[in-house]
Amino acid sequence: MKSGSFLFALTALCATAAQAETPLERGAYLVRTIAACGNCHTPKNQDWSEQTGKLLAGGFVIDLPPFTAIAPNITPDKETGIGNWTDQQIVRAIREGIRPDESVIGPPMPFQFYRSIADRDAQAIVAYLRSVPAVRNAVGKSVYRLKLPDGWGNAASDPDPPPQNDKLVYGAYLAGPLGHCLECHTPMLADGSRDMARAGAGGLPVPGPLGDVVPPNLTPDRETGLGDWTDGEIRRAITQGMARDGRKLSPPMAFAYYARMTPRDLDAIIAYLRSLKPVRTAR
Ligand code: HEC
Ligand code: HEC
Repeated sequence: MKSGSFLFALTALCATAAQAETPLERGAYLVRTIAACGNCHTPKNQDWSEQTGKLLAGGFVIDLPPFTAIAPNITPDKETGIGNWTDQQIVRAIREGIRPDESVIGPPMPFQFYRSIADRDAQAIVAYLRSVPAVRNAVGKSVYRLKLPDGWGNAASDPDPPPQNDKLVYGAYLAGPLGHCLECHTPMLADGSRDMARAGAGGLPVPGPLGDVVPPNLTPDRETGLGDWTDGEIRRAITQGMARDGRKLSPPMAFAYYARMTPRDLDAIIAYLRSLKPVRTAR
């Protein structure tokens, strides 16, 4: 074999290997890393460690002034989970916030971001949800003290996720639609949506195990954002929950999930954060 055709064969082989990721593998990767669905949908112990044997079985309560939300059971249990829903019904619930009975799903499910999850990734997530053990766990109903909209709009997604070798575009997809980093880390407008003109400039307090914590500014502003941080420092904050000065960061950010991301996905997210418009905020 001439070296040229050998290289061609090798490239073809690598391409096949990349395509060989099944929907189930892709879904497992997304849910266990960047999407971190279990950070809300798996019930927690007092110390916020996740309860064993209850993967995605619901019951975790998110208490904020406008609502007391209870994350539902999204295991395949037919009575207390989503075992009777069709794939399309689950995809619609995730991206558009509408249940099979047409009722509207409330916050903090981040529909402003999830509506842009690509078709193929939404289907992969469903393939994974179908594969986890069915857990019987009936949970209570959320209470909303704000008026929920009639809907969150139709899915605004592409059939396929953006190409992984386009670092900035793929990083934006990871930090937005899939990971909703920007949900927590972006200021809110009067209508409750995120102010994308100030994407990443820090958000409203979110409840953690020891009280409320404020999501800081992730834009490249050198004084109040990440402008002076090294890539290594940003990576350590995301995956180990350690601030630049060594302080331990508090949940609800899903550090343990993000720690399982591929180095390539982490790099894409960091490159994307570096591309945000610098915004100066109070620190
Ligand atoms: C920030 C917390 C949070 C995250 C992250 C989150 N969810 Fe949810 N989810 C909720 C809450 C709370 C509800 C219920 C809201 C209500 O009661 O109207 C919900 C509702 C749902 C429902 C409707 C279930 C039902 O029985 O009504 C599905 C399906 C669902 N989520 C799937 C997912 C998937 C898949 C992911 C990850 C891609 C995810 N969620 C990420 C908090 C979250
Ligand atoms: C559920 C809300 C939430 C989500 C989602 C979230 N974060 Fe955070 N993040 C926080 C909070 C709150 C803090 C501060 C914690 C503290 O001060 O103890 C934080 C801290 C950080 C820090 C440290 C910044 C500093 O100045 O100390 C970085 C970097 C960061 N987040 C990046 C990300 C990225 C990247 C994602 C998505 C992969 C993400 N966050 C998703 C809430 C969130």
